[in-house]
Amino acid sequence: MSNVSFEAPRGMRDFYPEDMAWRNRVFDAWRAAAERFGFQPYDACVVESLALLQRKSGEEVSEQIYAFQDKSGRALALRPEMTPTLARMVAARQSRLHFPIKWGAIAQCFRYERMTRGRKREHYQLNLDIVGTESVLAEAELLGAAVQAVRLMGLPDDAWRIHVSSRALLGELLAKAGIPAAQHPPVFMALDKRGKIPDEEIAVLLAQAGLPQDAIDAAFRLLAVDSLEAAAALAGEDSPAIADLRALHALAERMGYAPLLRFDIAVIRGLSYYTGIVFEAFDAQRRFRAIFGGGRYDSLLALVGGKPTPAVGLGFGDVVIGEILRDALGEACPVPRRGYAVGYMTAAERDAAVALAARLRAEGHPVDLALLPQKPKHFFSQAGASHARHAVYLGPDDIAKGVAQAKDLDTREAVPLALA
Ligand code: HAM
Repeated sequence: MSNVSFEAPRGMRDFYPEDMAWRNRVFDAWRAAAERFGFQPYDACVVESLALLQRKSGEEVSEQIYAFQDKSGRALALRPEMTPTLARMVAARQSRLHFPIKWGAIAQCFRYERMTRGRKREHYQLNLDIVGTESVLAEAELLGAAVQAVRLMGLPDDAWRIHVSSRALLGELLAKAGIPAAQHPPVFMALDKRGKIPDEEIAVLLAQAGLPQDAIDAAFRLLAVDSLEAAAALAGEDSPAIADLRALHALAERMGYAPLLRFDIAVIRGLSYYTGIVFEAFDAQRRFRAIFGGGRYDSLLALVGGKPTPAVGLGFGDVVIGEILRDALGEACPVPRRGYAVGYMTAAERDAAVALAARLRAEGHPVDLALLPQKPKHFFSQAGASHARHAVYLGPDDIAKGVAQAKDLDTREAVPLALA
């Protein structure tokens, strides 16, 4: 045993207190934004049946599943994403739920990824989903909630953008280019790999999907369409997909985040179940993979045994945003000072310190009570490095007077604090 090094498995993270400060900043913003936008919390176990999670559609995520057999031989897995679980849970209660529903969860997910900065083998994901409406206001609300979360984390709007497109639009354009609808799913999966693998390999995938050379050329040409106007010119002004994208933009203007949106036809998404508007957020310099991603998936409920039901959702990971926040705000997470640090000079003042801590805690303040007597210098330097707002140090004179000094660790001002 003595020679074995016990490190967290590759790609899995430990969270020391300084890491938890960042994680809490992200989770607190997620929870606050989800609540502000009316999402109801839900949760489920990280272990799922493998059959629910695996899809035979050429998605990367299906190849990255941590799968295992339990002692009864059941084929199980650690979930790589939350959406199949959500779909299963909704389908199981479909006749009792009042649609549309808006549900939110912070879910730990596992993927056997090739690791890069911002990609681990385990991550937490805020999932927000709206099930039971075709209204594009659902997309607008989802994006509004994600924008709210990023703003609460303290990242300025000019540091990131949301790239938006639509699989329905790309489907219309592919059909106009003579590529039949049956071939669209493998074409989406192949085109999504743009930038990750060379174009020649994508061309091979498209040929394997049954596309002749002129259709392959047409598919690549579509990815060069660089504005919604250009896409509208190709799709026709009566295109329902263009109407949805325009409606989303108009709603985003009313909700105050339209400047963050960019039309980007190359956003396709690597998951097979999306059917309509899709989006991915990136840092402005495109140094990282996506901050969050999602879209409309109107067929998934039916695939897990439910009635066909429109749905739209997003997954927002903690890893990429964590890296971006550290770059923008500094290595140490800015945590607002709260509560009290209470110390004392000798064992004789200990009981008074314990009583003071008990009183302050009963009033609702967080209190870090020293476990041993300390010299004042030592106590104040420790309190300064902690997250306490006030430091109270009890010596014999304070006990005699029945009044201590609560020193504000930001302003250095001291205010009297009665001990009784
Ligand atoms: P996804 O794009 O696979 O979508 O993941 C969503 C987000 O999770 C990514 O943008 C990223 O922030 C984070 N993420 C994914 N994989 C990793 C990883 N290996 N390491 C760190 N972060 C990662 C989905 O999972 C969909 N189920 C989202 C969704 C919900 N669509 C509809 N509802």
